[in-house]
Amino acid sequence: MSISKCTIVDLPKIADPRGNLTFIEGGNHIPFPIQRVYYLYDVPGGADRGGHAHKKLQQLIIAVSGSFDVVLDDGHERKKVHLNRSYKGLYVSEMIWRELENFSSAAVCLVLASRPYEEDDYYRNYAEFISALGST
Ligand code: TYD
Repeated sequence: MSISKCTIVDLPKIADPRGNLTFIEGGNHIPFPIQRVYYLYDVPGGADRGGHAHKKLQQLIIAVSGSFDVVLDDGHERKKVHLNRSYKGLYVSEMIWRELENFSSAAVCLVLASRPYEEDDYYRNYAEFISALGST
């Protein structure tokens, strides 16, 4: 899969003096039904997350609080996306290597995922990911 498919999704934002509201419907604002939600928080300064690719899993990654960078790699190209808005999500397709870094203090990274947790779905070794790309 090409990183050109990994784009920013502008989510609905209901602005209100009492506080803003954003909502996400699986299959509507994102191209998959949501089967799992997880979030990263209390990330210590300088720590990196990710460092893997998924065979089938699609995700939407949102900085619901604070900011961080997502480095995407499809085996041909790399790009770094800075996320710092609660109403913008980064769609990450299957077969994309991702690294999450440069977390601000109190950052919360919300992830909507198309499948349940399956360790078999991971490539945790970059060389293995690259060789799998060559064989598809
Ligand atoms: P991992 O996906 O490697 O974290 P990240 O990409 O955010 O750095 O997951 C870290 C650990 O948490 C790993 O042992 C698997 C476990 N885990 C679950 O049990 N369920 C989940 O939904 C996720 C995302 C991880």
